[in-house]
Parts: sequence; structure tokens; C-alpha cells
Amino acid sequence: MIRQHTIDQIFSAASIDEVVGDYVKLKRSGSGMGGLCPFHNEKTPSFKVSPNLGIYKCFGCGRGGNVVDFVMEIERLTYPEALRHLASKYHIEIEEDNSNREELSEQVKLREGLYVALAFAQKYFTDQLLNDTEGKAVGYSYFKERAITDQTIERFGLGYGKNSWDEFLNHAQSNGYDLDILVKAGLIKERQNDTSEEKSYYDTYRERVMFPIHNLTGKVVGFGGRHLTKDKKSPKYINSPESEVYHKSSVLYGLYHAKKAIREKEEVLLVEGYLDVLMLAQSGIENVVATSGTALTVDQVKLVKRFADKAVMLYDGDPAGIKAAIRGVDLLLEGGLNVDVVVFPEGEDPDSYCRKLGGAGLETFIHEQRKNLVQFKTEVLLAEKGDTAIGRSETAREVLESVVKIPDPLKRNAFIKETSVLLDFEETLLQAEAKRLRHQLDRSGRNATQTTLIQPEVNASPEVKPSADKRSKEHLLVESLILYAQEPYDEEVDMAGFIFSELDADGYGFEDAELADAVNEARTYYSFHDGLDESFFTKHKTLGKIAADTLSNKYKLSPVWSDTHEIFVKTDTENYKDVVQENLNYLKLFKLQFFFNKTMKQLEEAESEEDVLLLQRKIAKLLQVRKTITDTLGIEGALPEA
Ligand code: UTP
Ligand code: MN
Repeated sequence: MIRQHTIDQIFSAASIDEVVGDYVKLKRSGSGMGGLCPFHNEKTPSFKVSPNLGIYKCFGCGRGGNVVDFVMEIERLTYPEALRHLASKYHIEIEEDNSNREELSEQVKLREGLYVALAFAQKYFTDQLLNDTEGKAVGYSYFKERAITDQTIERFGLGYGKNSWDEFLNHAQSNGYDLDILVKAGLIKERQNDTSEEKSYYDTYRERVMFPIHNLTGKVVGFGGRHLTKDKKSPKYINSPESEVYHKSSVLYGLYHAKKAIREKEEVLLVEGYLDVLMLAQSGIENVVATSGTALTVDQVKLVKRFADKAVMLYDGDPAGIKAAIRGVDLLLEGGLNVDVVVFPEGEDPDSYCRKLGGAGLETFIHEQRKNLVQFKTEVLLAEKGDTAIGRSETAREVLESVVKIPDPLKRNAFIKETSVLLDFEETLLQAEAKRLRHQLDRSGRNATQTTLIQPEVNASPEVKPSADKRSKEHLLVESLILYAQEPYDEEVDMAGFIFSELDADGYGFEDAELADAVNEARTYYSFHDGLDESFFTKHKTLGKIAADTLSNKYKLSPVWSDTHEIFVKTDTENYKDVVQENLNYLKLFKLQFFFNKTMKQLEEAESEEDVLLLQRKIAKLLQVRKTITDTLGIEGALPEA
């Protein structure tokens, strides 16, 4: 964990206008600054930055947050990654913090050791490829045969491991590298059936061209090494083992080099092999990554989703390729991505076809051949099952099985329509079938993950204000806390103090774990500093975004562009006490309902008479409290259902 002290340093060094200014041309406007939003396309600026509050807010697309949020959003980084990014920009040394420090530092040491060894190996392999006699004659000439340019060799750090059992081993050892680290990095291996007492080792990559695999920040985390002689019995590729720095299921080959292009094109191309990535990238199609021959994983889908909402799978036309594509499509759909598929003619892969057509030609081919999931699955399945009544109905069902995985109901609907047209089925029939399949999906998969019962039956009872349905009451309360923390409640206590004491007194813990943590941190901060200022919220990891939202509304950052007239206007906060009290009451009501339902369930299952009595008393009590609150709120004292 990065220490709080470091985080504070980062926040005070990284001024929002400067950081945003690297990406957006900002102009002064009133007490803030404004420009064209980098997150959506616009012609008139609705993107505002407030250096005073340390926040940004787009009144067009609604995005907003603090300086770390901005970096996370624009660079698609995680929270710690964004902090590290800013720390390096402002030359701040990162201090790490952990309760079991020793364990952590061991781990950090191991990771650092691996990174250094892998970077060392990468340099060595490239040097061999470009400067060694064997490297040039065998490795370099192979790449030339495959039409890989010098520029690509350099950009992707390609290399060559020589036909020797110990050249790399000796070189690494004479440079002081630990055998243990080299083994963990997969660069050398221990001899297995060695009779002598002493352990002995040998180079993993012999007579192979080397493809380094980079993580998101550009560090080498592993290698793929391809053999060059076809008759060999060894596998075509040797890949690095899993290690502290290389988790295969969450790495995509080429992503580091492709991420900028993916973001610009808002689309990622998925291919299978190292050489497919290299060939497309050097032909000007840069938004391409490879799964490296294995099936796409959930983590890889999440990774992709950080950069784009659309994926195009470029797969071989052979049965194995099509099967892999079908599996991948479902996974990507579940991950909330739009998916198209391009199937290549038999015997061709993206690499070979790109060499045939050239970059522009391949782009046209992709453009013309890409099929959405319904078109793709219909075509493949109909060919397999035959265009008969049974074939078509089986096809329809299997297409729908994919369609129901799409989280967005509107998109789902559009695809159901398309299925009905393509296969000539009544749309209502397909709608009904889709509904059934979705239920099935709910029962099998979703239930397991949906453990917390947030917003249960309160929503269903019409007596509770409909406006309160939308966002959780907890969220609303947090907003009040951010807005009014420093306003007085009475002569002695401010609103923050009042809210905390209310939450304490009734023991109404938050349901949302993230908000619960955040509120607890606010409470701690409050008790140490005897107050909560706006900067606590704007700099907070989870509250930063909410704070940017609420505060930019409080100090209305005028959406109209004007150089001189724009000012921050404090919005009317006169009846803040009522607002807070009301939010607290809704929260309590919501919690009560939760307790009530739980107790009713217990009552149903109660076995002894004593239990029944106790539970009935509890229910009476809950109803009583509920009535007090609904009376105060002036809403009907609805009888809660179980
Ligand atoms: P390919 O056989 O298509 O390899 O496997 P390729 O990279 O296109 O190489 P060429 O064109 O035959 O020279 C696709 C990917 O599957 C993984 C590699 O990541 C490869 O890029 N693979 C393949 C392995 O990991 N091990 C293997 O033995 C074969
Ligand atoms: Mn290939």
C-alpha cells in the first residue's frame, strides 16, 4: 500500500490544471478554467476545471473527479497505478506501507529482481539478434523472411536465444544475477535427472527467436520463444512460466504498444498469435493484441474493457478457430463489450493475409467482412446444422443464448429483432424464449454473486417517494455530508458531527462496503481534526468522484463559456438541516425494511414458541419505529411486506 503521506504529497504537488493541461487546452474562465472535454466529442467547451477545489467536471458527459480520477480515466489506470504515474511525473518518492512489512519487502524485492533480470535478458537477446554471428544468420534472417522490419524489432524488443546450453546462463551469472531469480523468471531451468550432488542449470531458450511480453507500464514480464526448425519435437513456442510479475490470464500480448491506438479507435482487434500482432502493427493497424494461443479469460476481457467498449475478433476460418471465436464472443458479451467477428479464409491468418493485402487492404477486408454476433453465429451454426426447420430453430436458440448475455436491454432487444429477421421467426416468440433463457441464466449464475440485498422491497412500496428510489439512500446521505459537513447544526456541533452521531446512535451501518469504509475514514479524520473540509472529500479515493459531482453543482460551474462573467455561485443551502434529516430518515427507513424482512423470514422458520414470541415483539417494535419516521417524513405509514 502506498502510504497516506505519499498520497498527500502527490495531491499537493499535482495541480489539477497542470495535469489536465497536458491533455486539454485550458483557458481561464472566471475563477476556474475550461476547455474541450477529452472524454467525449464536442465542439463547444463544457469541460471545467476548478484549481481551488482540485476537481474537474464535464457538463456534457458528466464525468468528473479529482486529479487522480482524471489520470485513471484518461490513462485507463487503476488507483495505485495513477498515483504512481503522478508520483513519477512530480518526482515524488513513493513510500509503501504495510503491517507485515517484512513479507511485503520480500515480495517487492522478488518482483524488482524479476523485472531487472527480465529486462537484462531482453537486452541480451536483442543484442544477440542484431550483433552476434549466429544471431544475425539465423534469427535476424528469419525475421526478414517473415517481413518483420528493423523498426518492429526495435519497438517490440525482439531477440534471439542462441543454440547453446549455457551462453545466457554464463552471461547472466557473470553479471551477478541470482540463479534463483533466473529460474523463477523462466530464463534457465534446473537439470532434472542429474546424478551429481550439485544442481546444474541450462538455458531455456535455445535457437529460438524471442518475443518479450510487456505489462501495461512497458516492463518485460515474460517471453515467448519460437523455434525455427520445423522437424523439432519440442513445442513451437516456449512461454515463460507464471511468476510474481507474470500472470498469464491477465496479460494480452501487445497491449502496451496498442493501448493508445485502441483508445483512439475506440476498438480493439483480438488475434491469436505474436506474429499477427507484429504484422498488423507494422502495417499501420496498431490497435491489435493477442491472446497468445490460449482461450480468452475473464481478466483479459476486463483488461480490454478498460480501453475500449468494442472488440473485433480476427480468427482463422478452421473449425478450431471458429470454436475459439464462439467461446470468446460470449465472454466478451458478458463483459459488456460489443463484439464483431471476422473469419479469415481457410489457410490464412491475420499475419499472412495482411502480407497478401497490405495494411490498407486488410483494413478494408475487416471493414467489409466483420459480422456482429447474430450474423456470425447464425452463419456458422446454419452451415453446421443445415437450413432445415430443426436446424433453424436450434440455431435461433443458440444465438439467443449468446444474446441474453448482453447486459444492456436495448442492445439485447435489437439483436433479438435481428435474429428474428435473419432466421424468419416471429419476434414475440423469440422474445419469450429470450426471457426464459435469461431467467435460467439468472438462476444459475447471477444468484451466486448477488449476495447483498440492497434496496429490497422498499422500492416496491409506492408510499416511499419515487425520487428516492433511484440512488441509494446511503449515497444521498454521503452527498449531504460532503455538502454540509461544515455548516452548523446548533451552537455546539456542525452537520458532520450531527450525522456521525446519528449514524452511531442508531447503529445503522452502511450496506455499501465502499461507502461504509469511506464514511468511517471521514469519521476518523473528523475526530482527529475536529472538522471535515471539502478537500478531505475531493482527495478521497472513493469519495473524490461524488465530491466533484456534488461540489461542482454547489459552486455552479456555469456551463456557458464566457471569459469574464463566470463565477462560482454558492447555491442556496438554507434548508440543509431538513435535507440531511430527511436523508437520514430515508436511510433509517430503508434499513428498517431490511431488518423487517429479515425478521419476517426468521419468523417463518422459527421452531419454538418462545422464538416466535420474541420475533413478534421485535416486529412490533420495528413497526413502531417505522411509524415515527414515516410520520416525520409525512408519508403514509405503509405496512411493509415481507
Ligand atoms: P500460431 O501457431 O498461429 O503461431 O499460434 P504464430 O505466432 O502465428 O506463428 P507462425 O505464424 O506460425 O510463425 C498462435 C499463438 O499461440 C501460441 C503463441 O502465442 C502463438 O503466437 N502458441 C502456439 C504457443 O504458445 N505454443 C505453441 O506451441 C503454439
Ligand atoms: Mn501465424
